[in-house]
Amino acid sequence: MLLKDNFEKSVLMIREGIIMIKIAVVYWSGTGNTKEMANHVLKGAEEAGAKAKLFTASEFEKEDINNYDAFAFGCPSMGTEKLESTEFEPMFRSISDKLKGRKAALFGSYSWGKGEWMKKWEKVCRKAGAVLVTDSVIGYDAPDIDTKRKCEALGAALKLY
Ligand SMILES: Cc1cc2nc3c(=O)[nH]c(=O)nc-3n(C[C@H](O)[C@H](O)[C@H](O)COP(=O)(O)O)c2cc1C
Repeated sequence: MLLKDNFEKSVLMIREGIIMIKIAVVYWSGTGNTKEMANHVLKGAEEAGAKAKLFTASEFEKEDINNYDAFAFGCPSMGTEKLESTEFEPMFRSISDKLKGRKAALFGSYSWGKGEWMKKWEKVCRKAGAVLVTDSVIGYDAPDIDTKRKCEALGAALKLY
């Protein structure tokens, strides 16, 4: 009962902005499409009342994982349906042992495939124990208005769940 009361109190304090949720938006982008998506994720998180910060994959340090409550990870489909291999994938691999129980959501751009990289990436996250709080957002090429809105909803979902 006490636990339930505390949980409900915390949810209320988060909703009312007494407890500030910190969200890291970590992305890699070669031609700017995923970067644009990242900016909309950031906007959605901030508009929902979270304190959000944008990082490129090379800026994000392993220790940063301890400084945020939730994480949006963005990477386009590269290689053959893979994560970008020189910066994003090594960064993601380096933090994967710290993802257990952490709230996360994924997004990224693609163009000629069918989104297979995202399915594989979701599996990797689930195996690592991450809690994917909402559907991943995949955007064809440069994000259109629908994709931008989905990115904003993804950012907000990280604050709310
Ligand atoms: C080297 C390279 C590999 C790519 N591999 C894939 C792929 O396997 N599947 C796919 O759908 N798109 C692939 N693409 C297309 C990119 O995912 C697409 O252009 C995307 O919009 C790039 O996002 P960005 O602007 O954030 O870099 C590839 C692009 C490059 C340059």
